[in-house]
Amino acid sequence: MEPAAESGTFQSLPAMFFARAARWADRPRYRVHRDDAWTEVDWRTMEQSVREIAAGLVSLGIERGDRIAIFAATSPEWVEIDLAIQAAGGVTIPIYHSNLASEAGFILLDSESRMVWVDGDKTVTKVREALASGVELEGGVAPLRLDRILVLHGEAVGAEDTLGVAELRRRGRDDRAAQEEVQRRVAALRRDHLATIVYTSGTTGAPKGVVQTQGNHLAMIENTAALGVVREGEVDFFFLPLAHSFARMIAYYGLYVGSVTAFARSIDTLSQDIAATKPNVIPAVPRIYEKIHARIHATRDAGSALTQKIFDWALEVGKQRSTYQQAGESVPLWIQVQNVVARKLVFERVQHLLGGNVRVMISGASPIAREILEFFHAFELLILEGYGLTETTPALTINRADDYKFGTVGKPIPGCQITIAPDGEIFARGPNVALGYYKRPHETAEAWDDNGWFHTGDIGEFDSEGFLRITDRKKDLIKTSGGKYVAPQKIENLLKTQPHISQAIVIGNNRKYCTALISLDEDSARSFRERHGIGPGERLDRNPEVLQLVEAEVADVNRKLASFETIKFFRVLPAELSEAAGELTPSLKIKRKVVEARYGDLIEEMYG
Ligand SMILES: Nc1ncnc2c1ncn2[C@@H]1O[C@H](COP(=O)(O)OP(=O)(O)OP(=O)(O)O)[C@@H](O)[C@H]1O
Ligand SMILES: [Mg+2]
Repeated sequence: MEPAAESGTFQSLPAMFFARAARWADRPRYRVHRDDAWTEVDWRTMEQSVREIAAGLVSLGIERGDRIAIFAATSPEWVEIDLAIQAAGGVTIPIYHSNLASEAGFILLDSESRMVWVDGDKTVTKVREALASGVELEGGVAPLRLDRILVLHGEAVGAEDTLGVAELRRRGRDDRAAQEEVQRRVAALRRDHLATIVYTSGTTGAPKGVVQTQGNHLAMIENTAALGVVREGEVDFFFLPLAHSFARMIAYYGLYVGSVTAFARSIDTLSQDIAATKPNVIPAVPRIYEKIHARIHATRDAGSALTQKIFDWALEVGKQRSTYQQAGESVPLWIQVQNVVARKLVFERVQHLLGGNVRVMISGASPIAREILEFFHAFELLILEGYGLTETTPALTINRADDYKFGTVGKPIPGCQITIAPDGEIFARGPNVALGYYKRPHETAEAWDDNGWFHTGDIGEFDSEGFLRITDRKKDLIKTSGGKYVAPQKIENLLKTQPHISQAIVIGNNRKYCTALISLDEDSARSFRERHGIGPGERLDRNPEVLQLVEAEVADVNRKLASFETIKFFRVLPAELSEAAGELTPSLKIKRKVVEARYGDLIEEMYG
């Protein structure tokens, strides 16, 4: 191993990975559920997969700079293939597993991918659909062409243009020249070479391809390693889509520091998988924490009067303890004593839901309500919020376990400069800021200025201690017809933490007052149905008692708002907003424009 590599000056992610694999060869690299049991795979085995796949790709004729897409759910193979593509000199194009045929087709075409990896019937069908129908663009339908479809698990069956990973690896194993070529290509990789083009979440419109270099990623993990977000030997837990920059960063981070990554089987088995793998670190998005929060509340409501009392008492004790800890003050002895009892009676059960070994949880991708952070912290579960964008590969700020403030996104990560423009927009500069948008010179010029500042489109401010607070997206700020500015994010977060409210969208741009569309939390809706004997066929969105409950919760929120911010009317949506209905991004953010258009009638009712 080169000494330069050991001192942290890697030139590429594959070079970093191979150096780490040589160092930690026999140690476990990941935990995965295979053939009905959890097993561990060591670094050496993972390295062999990466080398064989890379050689197989070269053997197939992949040239330096070729784009290869991965259209698959999160799995160990995803990470191996990503590294193999880069080791073969290629550029990885991630596509969300949940993307529709049209969305995947757009990314394949826009990125000029030569090949695509798929992980099963669903994704292969979507690719075939896109190949058959072409991709709809503004100027008409463009044909999509691919050299190959590669299948990530096992053998491919049927069509001539598909190849399974097993066969590809055999080819790689048998082709010495390809293996040597991989060595040469890895050695030739430099920090300014393209590693991947990552498409943004598509919250505000069509996704844009962000051009990220090897150096962007290396800078991110090198600069954050000292913060100890993930530590050597710890288990980090993976279920977030690797097509999102946040999960990808944690994946590379784990390789760099030597964590053991546990892969969930699926979202449906999340709770069993967490319990089985007992992670130390869990990265997740706010929607997941909101769901757990709602579930804990629903469980409390379903309990006896006595258990409810005990729960409420323990939560109160935990909140008091948390308040002292947040202020950095020592916890008074009498609270410490009560806290020990509360831990035994309640906290440990909640912690047990998360495997019992959690050191920290991380939240990013969208804002999380302070109430949720305080709720978890009461149970001695620390969630550290971070902030970033695909364009900044991706982190800009993060709270640290020994230096955090709820309600803020933390302090800038080392090496990253942040400044606030006169109108409040957050600008960022640093080695992790990507080069620009792929084939979009106009949008690139709008967001990257001549002084090297990237304009995030988010509004925020630093407090006196240097913690950044995000107000909202600049374009989402509401200007009422009275001329007042309202930040919907703050109000939506207050609404979402109410027990019966799952999601909320505040409306009011160019209107006299603010209103909200609200969806009911599924868990609390279920227990409401049980308590009132209402069948699943009967709708709740117009049920007078439900409306009364929500009305009271909206009134509760209104008390915390200035009068021009208050919600004058609301409507309950027929169902929770979902990704399947195209209302949420794969990172579970609300596509505001889609929802406002879909429920235009309900909105107009409130301004009638
Ligand atoms: N902790 C946070 N608090 C508030 N907002 C956040 C946080 N983390 C991320 N964000 C929001 O997410 C955005 C970055 O997300 P991402 O790059 O995944 O795509 P997107 O901006 O949601 O989608 P698109 O750019 O396609 O509209 C940021 O600009 C910011 O608005
Ligand atoms: Mg964006």
